[in-house]
Amino acid sequence: MSQVGEVSVASEAAVLEARDLQRHYEVKRGFFGEGVTVKALGGASFSLRRGRTLAVVGESGCGKSTLARLVTQIEAPTAGQLLIDGEDVTESDEATRKRLRQEVQIVFQDPYGSLNPRKKIGTILEEPLVINSDLDRPARRARAREMMDRVGLRPDQIDRYPHMFSGGQRQRIAVARALMLQPRILVADEPVSALDVSIQAQVLNLLMDLQEEYDLAYLFISHDLSVVRHIADDIMVMYLGRVVEQGPAEAIFQKPSHPYTRALLASTPAVDPQHRHERIALKGEIPSPLAPPAGCAFHTRCPHAVERCGSDLPALGPHEGRLVACHRAGEIG
Ligand SMILES: Nc1ncnc2c1ncn2[C@@H]1O[C@H](COP(=O)(O)OP(=O)(O)O)[C@@H](O)[C@H]1O
Ligand code: SF4
Ligand SMILES: [Mg+2]
Repeated sequence: MSQVGEVSVASEAAVLEARDLQRHYEVKRGFFGEGVTVKALGGASFSLRRGRTLAVVGESGCGKSTLARLVTQIEAPTAGQLLIDGEDVTESDEATRKRLRQEVQIVFQDPYGSLNPRKKIGTILEEPLVINSDLDRPARRARAREMMDRVGLRPDQIDRYPHMFSGGQRQRIAVARALMLQPRILVADEPVSALDVSIQAQVLNLLMDLQEEYDLAYLFISHDLSVVRHIADDIMVMYLGRVVEQGPAEAIFQKPSHPYTRALLASTPAVDPQHRHERIALKGEIPSPLAPPAGCAFHTRCPHAVERCGSDLPALGPHEGRLVACHRAGEIG
């Protein structure tokens, strides 16, 4: 598999592994509706061990949620393989897929939209157990109360409705619900992006505590590099459906190699001043995924672009302890 740092662990140890995972969508463009293929995810490979966090970072539309839908089996990949606990989901029968689906749970960005407003917290938390376990009502209720306690909510509030909680508390409820079936993997798709900055750290700390307690593997998605700084072991930076830089978080935060990663990091306000890099504002808009630029898709915004960048697609290859997809990775330091 892949070559660097945490990415190089043997497949046996990985609880989650993606091999050139792809998802394409056929969409109609314009009034006459000629068909185009959007490569929402052009190919991602990674492996993730228990207790570790892979952060997936990039601007809106780069394919992060698409990856989340593949990993949680909400959608099937167009190509590539997905392995959970060493078992290939893409090759499995329906019974195996159902079992593997329970190993991966998800927390979404919106703490208001993701909880049914008409149901009490207890009902929301018990639901996964009703469908997927043989536990009777008292046992389910006991589990729900226990989980409320684990995520920092008062178990005596089990009969309250979602609207009676704050945004941060609702996200705790969503985390509790995701953990009811004791999954090995938690996908967090922008879990703190809708929360006040003051609340973000609390929810991130909770996630880190729970990770340690349950030895969970996290696929942590964010458009904001500063959010993943303390939680990520590895980072995968994406641009228009492609991975542009991937490797150990420490190396990437210390010295980002890809011009896009640098630009993202430079536009990240919370990064401490000693580590602030040259300020490269991200100029221009993200091009349409319906018509991505030829060659390196970042060339329309890259301060280092040369002629070949507009025609040749750079391959993702090893560079300074991580993988980088840039023709000039070796020259620009
Ligand atoms: N069901 C779909 N049909 C067509 N295009 C889609 C669909 N889902 C996502 N896309 C496109 O795929 C790209 C990646 O989307 P998404 O994964 O949601 O990005 P992100 O989560 O990083 O913002 C976008 O261009 C989006 O418009
Ligand atoms: S390949 Fe060229 S355009 Fe793309 S990031 Fe590298 S220098 Fe910039
Ligand atoms: Mg998204």
